[in-house]
Amino acid sequence: MRPLAVAITGRGVVDPASAVVPADDEGFTRGRAAFTTLRVYGGRPFRLREHLRRLQGSAERIGLSAPDAAEVEQLALQAVAAAGVPDCTLRITWTPGPPGGPPMALAVVGEIPAFVEELRERGQRLASLLVPRRSEPWLLEGTKSTSYAVNMAAEAEAKRRGADDAVFVDAEGIVLEGPVTNVWWREGETLLTPSLDLGILAGETRATLAGLAAGLGYRLEEGAYPLARLLAADEAFTSSSIREVVPVVAVDDVELERGRAAAALQRALRELAVPVP
Ligand SMILES: Cc1ncc(COP(=O)(O)O)c(C=O)c1O
Repeated sequence: MRPLAVAITGRGVVDPASAVVPADDEGFTRGRAAFTTLRVYGGRPFRLREHLRRLQGSAERIGLSAPDAAEVEQLALQAVAAAGVPDCTLRITWTPGPPGGPPMALAVVGEIPAFVEELRERGQRLASLLVPRRSEPWLLEGTKSTSYAVNMAAEAEAKRRGADDAVFVDAEGIVLEGPVTNVWWREGETLLTPSLDLGILAGETRATLAGLAAGLGYRLEEGAYPLARLLAADEAFTSSSIREVVPVVAVDDVELERGRAAAALQRALRELAVPVP
C-alpha cells in the first residue's frame, strides 16, 4: 500500500512516490531513529500530543536531538489534510539524518489495514516467545525506535507456529508485551496488564484503556505476572493505536473465551476518539 500523503521537515507536503530520505540517513543505515504510529478519527489524530511526547522521550534515549513538538504537529496535520481521508493511520518518524545531521521528521499517512477489523471479528491466536527483558538503558526500555526487525521476526515466527501474533515473555516466564501491542487480561472484575517497570513500551492505547477501566466497573492492576496467569484468564486482549482492542482467543495451545471487557473497552475507546459532529 502506497502512503496517502507525506510531509517532511523543510519541504512540507511532498509526492509520496518521491525519495525523501538521504542514502546515508542513520535511521535507514542503522535503525537509529524514533517513531510513533497513531490513528486519525474523523480527520483528528487521536492523542497526537501524547504521541509526540513519547517520540521526544524515544529520541532522547536513542541519543538524538529532541524534535520540536509544535513543528512536527504542524507537519502531521498538513499530511493528514493532504490525504483527505478522515480515518487513516499516521506514522511520524524522527530521524537524525546523515552523520552530523540535519535531523528530519516525516509524517506519513496511510490507509487503515483491512486485516484489523477481520482480526477483531475472529479474535487472534498468540504464540508466546522468549525475549530478553529490556533491563538496562542500552537495551532502550520503553523506546519506539525503527530497529524493529526483531519484532517483525517474532511476528513471522508466531505465524510459522500457526498463530496471528506473538506475546513476549522474559527468561523468567514473565509476560511483557506483543511486537506492536500491549497485552491485557481479565480475572473476574480486575483488568491486569504488565507494568511499565518491565521495560515495555508505554502504549498510548494502554494509557487510554487504563483511564476508561474504572468507569466500566473494572479494577486495574499492573505488575509482573507469569504466563500461567494469562493462560488462566477469563478473557484476554491486546491494545495498540492502529488495531485498538483485539480479543485473544488462544495463547499457544490454550483456548480462551472472548469476553465483555474487550468489547466494552473497544466501544468506549471509539466513543472517546471519534469527534462528535
Ligand atoms: C512494542 C510495542 N508495544 C506496545 C505498542 C502499543 O502502543 P500504542 O498503544 O501507543 O500504539 C506498540 C505500538 O506499536 C509497540 O510497538
